[in-house]
Amino acid sequence: MTDSQQGAPARPTRAFPDDFLFGSATAAYQIEGAVAEDGRRPSIWDTFSHTPGRIAHGDTGDVACDHYRRMDADVDLMQSLNLDAYRFSIAWPRIQPAGRGAAVRAGLDFYSRLTDSLLEHGIRPVVTLYHWDLPQTLEDEGGWTVRSTAEAFADYAGIVADLLGDRVAMWTTLNEPWCSAFLGYGSGVHAPGRTDPVEALRAAHHLNLAHGLAIQRLRATVRPDAQALVTLNLHVVHPDTPADADAARQIDAVGNRVFTGPMLHGEYPLDLLADTAALTDWSFVQDGDLAQIHQPLDALGVNYYSTSRVKIWDGVSDRRHSSGHNPSAASPWPGADNVQFLTQPGPYTDMGWNIEPDGLHELLMRMHAEVPGLALYVTENGAAFPDVLTMQGGGPVVHDPLRVDYLDRHIAAAGRALRDGADLRGYFVWSLLDNFEWAWGYQKRFGIVHVDYDTLVRTPKDSAKWYAQLAATKQLP
Ligand code: NOJ
Repeated sequence: MTDSQQGAPARPTRAFPDDFLFGSATAAYQIEGAVAEDGRRPSIWDTFSHTPGRIAHGDTGDVACDHYRRMDADVDLMQSLNLDAYRFSIAWPRIQPAGRGAAVRAGLDFYSRLTDSLLEHGIRPVVTLYHWDLPQTLEDEGGWTVRSTAEAFADYAGIVADLLGDRVAMWTTLNEPWCSAFLGYGSGVHAPGRTDPVEALRAAHHLNLAHGLAIQRLRATVRPDAQALVTLNLHVVHPDTPADADAARQIDAVGNRVFTGPMLHGEYPLDLLADTAALTDWSFVQDGDLAQIHQPLDALGVNYYSTSRVKIWDGVSDRRHSSGHNPSAASPWPGADNVQFLTQPGPYTDMGWNIEPDGLHELLMRMHAEVPGLALYVTENGAAFPDVLTMQGGGPVVHDPLRVDYLDRHIAAAGRALRDGADLRGYFVWSLLDNFEWAWGYQKRFGIVHVDYDTLVRTPKDSAKWYAQLAATKQLP
């Protein structure tokens, strides 16, 4: 029953509560550059991006947006856009260059200064502990396929919690562990570029464990009012016809419930174990692990971009593994061998991802129903479009009406979920700046602020001005 049916006035879906957070998000490797500065050593993404053929146009994060040196100006920029909050990630290799051992003062200082600057500018800092830049040394010891990486991550989480725990009130452990496990170790389109379905499953488990151990370190250290969460890229997947329901179930198992099962319910789904039984007996899950992973969370972060449609594979067609990824790459879906991804109807973003705002509403309502009372944040949503910077009236402008439309429709869908009862507390646009879009390099522009990669000059796009108005008024313009 909706509010209006119960007699309470319905909130227009284009208006948001006064305390709703409108923020933006970034990730360290995608924006910082300065990869050899102040003792930082390579992460798996440095190694991967410097491996010929891995990244479009041979792009690397060596310079990126040079945010490491331009941080002060970037925080001024955020304030000029009225942002309530800023979600950034900490580069583990700046804190512990080899993934273990004593923390590097300069790395700690950078994030401490960033946090202070945000607070001074009235912007709430939201820390992501891991956004994919695993220290290469740890990968050389097995990376996420071995449990010692989860243990090292817990120590790193403790260091960061000690550093920022008095000032940061919102923490997320991992960003999109599905990508780390299944694109990193399954399809190999992300670092470290390994293609083994069993390693991908082992990685998923050790990421789950890392999350649970890190939550416990955070709880022990950070201010008691702090919120601890994880950010998942849950897949909104529909069967093509009712006869294809089992295809959607398989993708839901290895795409979503492989993480939500242990993290939110303390168990791996039995159907996932059955689907993958020919690959592994899951003996890498040790006694007590599920209890370590199943930690109370203060909120769940969801990243949402588009939807998928699947059917039972006919044994002949090109299967496509997931929208936007190279269909000839190895599969990132262990155990889902007879599933075919269909081309979705458009419109599409520059990533080739279909635009479907209703999918965000569906996802938020699903999680609300699955864990009643769980607070939710949209920790990422946004779109790449081929933006063009032009000179107009003596100054640079970027007209990006397609992005404004995308954001408007998705934020309205989030508003509908709020009206329909989901405890949605905030929305973070991906991204503040155009940046290094992983395997796609710099050609895909997700920013609400344009970055000229020759001069590194930032130019707010029309979408940034639009978003600034939204953040100030809590009302879709
Ligand atoms: C999810 C990831 O967290 C982020 O790093 C990436 O750039 C965006 N999606 C867009 O693909």
